[in-house]
Amino acid sequence: SARQAFKNFELFGAPHAAVITVDADQGPYAVLDTGVYVANFLLAAHSLGLGAIPQAALATYSSFIRDYFAIKDDRSVLLGISFGYPDPDHPANGYRTSRAPLDQAVHWVRDRPGVSPPAWK
Ligand SMILES: Cc1cc2nc3c(=O)[nH]c(=O)nc-3n(C[C@H](O)[C@H](O)[C@H](O)COP(=O)(O)O)c2cc1C
Repeated sequence: SARQAFKNFELFGAPHAAVITVDADQGPYAVLDTGVYVANFLLAAHSLGLGAIPQAALATYSSFIRDYFAIKDDRSVLLGISFGYPDPDHPANGYRTSRAPLDQAVHWVRDRPGVSPPAWK
């Protein structure tokens, strides 16, 4: 487990990495927007046949990343995304995680007895 975790810092063998930062003065919505950007980056990479790995682990060494890429304090380093053409024969790339069923991820709310919706004016 520790050996595998350490591979974060070898970019899992990827030849490229993007460092994702956000304006440090902006609140949670800027971070949320950046998450949307990251999700689309991952989908775009996948659509081009690339493998891309979002890695918050890289942000844990943000002082090194700041020095190396001259990133000022007005930016927060959120994560890195390592990417490149994946090796389909590598065992890690054949591993598939499962997805939680919809009812575990969504709390469905319909009419609640005794609770009236607000009257629209
Ligand atoms: C924002 C974010 C940060 C992540 N950070 C790490 C990380 O630092 N190290 C790591 O091994 N996996 C990290 N992961 C998880 C993997 O990159 C990947 O999403 C996971 O292996 C599941 O992949 P799958 O959903 O395609 O099966 C992170 C995922 C997300 C969305």
